[in-house]
Amino acid sequence: MQAIILGTSLRSIIADGQFGESIETPFGTTSSSLVETDIFGPRVLLLARHGKDGGIYAHKVNYRANMWALKDCGVNQILATATVGGISSQLNVGDIMIPDQIVDYTFGRDHTFFGDLPIKHYDFTYPFTNRLRQLLIQSRQDLKPNEILNRGTYGCTQGPRLETGAEITRLKQDGCDLVGMTLMPEASLARELELEYAAVCLVVNVAAGLTPSEIDLKHAHTIATSSIETLRGLLGRTIQLLN
Ligand code: HPA
Repeated sequence: MQAIILGTSLRSIIADGQFGESIETPFGTTSSSLVETDIFGPRVLLLARHGKDGGIYAHKVNYRANMWALKDCGVNQILATATVGGISSQLNVGDIMIPDQIVDYTFGRDHTFFGDLPIKHYDFTYPFTNRLRQLLIQSRQDLKPNEILNRGTYGCTQGPRLETGAEITRLKQDGCDLVGMTLMPEASLARELELEYAAVCLVVNVAAGLTPSEIDLKHAHTIATSSIETLRGLLGRTIQLLN
């Protein structure tokens, strides 16, 4: 079964008010209830990463509880949505990018299911599941031919503040194409639980310091809201390809 983790502003991809109370897991409470829906045809589970009212900031999300609950409910594949700032000059506001790499700048988050001993290492060369990425890319091409934002490096920052201009310069030097606050440790926890995982990133602003002006968060929110139909179409088509 598939699940979709809905990020900021994309929560309303299903009708507002449908998410209920969080559920308990051995790792604490999830961000929201898991809502079963057939809006895409096949049955999928939806989780609101930032809570049913959107009040849980990225650094406060209980990623372990969320991923554990999804696995526990029989989920094998996860499509995660996230809003991001664009760093690469190839990215425009409103673009959708399917990242293939991550640089993790977060700290202090509960980032593993493994205890201190025995230490278990695992391969994370490719943090996203390529099969899922290819289906997302195919769906995107079907809906919008010639769009080629099929790969890029996601820099995950701690939040809740946005970055300084100098930090974005550093991220750019590190090879990051986009910046957000949520895909880590979500992606590595998915790997620990052997869940397939890929992400759809919506560029809602140009990252800090790359334009003369400061970041207009109201405008970012408008972009997110106006992209809901596009994202819903992309996710729906991908779910259909998976079934
Ligand atoms: N930085 C970090 N996270 C974000 C941004 C940003 O510029 N835009 C949307 N999420």
